[in-house]
Amino acid sequence: MDWELDETQRMVQEAARDFATRAILPRARDIDRDAAIPREILKGLADLGLFGVNVPESLGGAGAGTIAYSLAMTEIGRACASTAVTMAVSNMVAEVLAAFGTERVRQEFVPRLCDGSLVAGSFALSEPEAGSDPGAMRATARRDGDGWVLDGSKQWITSGDFAGVFVVWARTGGPGTRGISAFAVDANTPGLSVGHHEDKMGLRGSSTTALHFEGCRVPSDALLGQENGGFKIAMMALDGGRIGIASQALGIGEAALEKAVAYAQQRSAFGGPLADKQAIQFMIADSRTELDVARLLTLRAAWLKQEGKPFSQQAAMAKLWSSENAWKVCDRALQVHGGYGYVREYDVERHLRDVRVSRIYEGTSEIQRIVIARGALS
Ligand code: CAA
Repeated sequence: MDWELDETQRMVQEAARDFATRAILPRARDIDRDAAIPREILKGLADLGLFGVNVPESLGGAGAGTIAYSLAMTEIGRACASTAVTMAVSNMVAEVLAAFGTERVRQEFVPRLCDGSLVAGSFALSEPEAGSDPGAMRATARRDGDGWVLDGSKQWITSGDFAGVFVVWARTGGPGTRGISAFAVDANTPGLSVGHHEDKMGLRGSSTTALHFEGCRVPSDALLGQENGGFKIAMMALDGGRIGIASQALGIGEAALEKAVAYAQQRSAFGGPLADKQAIQFMIADSRTELDVARLLTLRAAWLKQEGKPFSQQAAMAKLWSSENAWKVCDRALQVHGGYGYVREYDVERHLRDVRVSRIYEGTSEIQRIVIARGALS
């Protein structure tokens, strides 16, 4: 067993940390307040190879592997969770297109997604009445001449209003999970429009919108993988995506713990620093331990994926643990700060708002438990 990072992984981690500290962190509070990520930040990520960390170099990616991707996500998540989720979904879309796209789709979208020309990628699976249960989706795609025509609506779509390319799931067969296909859709396709923008509690810099498809026509080679084989593509993509969200939650937790430690050392009460009080020390000890477990579980899942071994359950465990415990870490960090934790100036309230959704998106904690239990009971 080798616990050391290799040179590529170290380089990606350092590049992400440097960019996050220099270019993102100083603007994180403004990104939250203005509910928008400056485009130059997204372009900067792409220029560093962070929009296709695990995408082959032949398609414009960094080809650096899943461990490097996880490390980079943690660094970006530590600075700004909104930026991190935009990056996570773009990486997930780039990987899906690279793995399942026809040659035309791979060449047309993946290099431009990786180099930032498409601004971001977007993953259009969920619907107003199909979130945890995507097998119940209602959007349809029907064959028409030499193409497909998409109709229906999607909801909770990250970067829905500015992504240049979408992976869209729609029903092409009978009911249930075996009648769903996946398509690559250019954002400028007629019949695709952006709907309601969600006004969220956290991750305010990341845009979340509805999408509407009305007679939206795509070429026949926009189909990803097999007809009616789209559900499995979604599941495989989400297995990898959950490593990204586990890494992001870890980064948010690290940011909150750093602030709690610094505040506890600097603030005095009852004649000495807060850090001398055992009640505070225990909070810091629990947080440190929980984040280290999150890191180990997340890197294990990343390693398994990178090695081509089964990793669904391990990714679910990493996401469950990391999101649930990063939430606790952020809550404790706020408690350490007392009243100051409850105001915007100290940023811990932002971390708490941002981390909350990691227990919901890319599969709720309850869905992760289903995946883990099915594996354990099989
Ligand atoms: N990899 C490959 N195939 C898989 C798979 C996996 N991880 N999991 C299931 N499958 C296959 C099954 O083998 C089965 O195949 P067959 O048809 O050949 O039998 C098929 O998929 C159906 O599987 P299930 O019967 O297990 O499906 P289910 O309806 O019971 O659902 C579930 C399983 C795990 C609960 C799944 O519905 C799920 O993950 N739900 C959560 C959805 C989710 O995470 N949504 C997130 C939205 S995207 C997002 O949040 C992105 C963002 O913008 C931030």
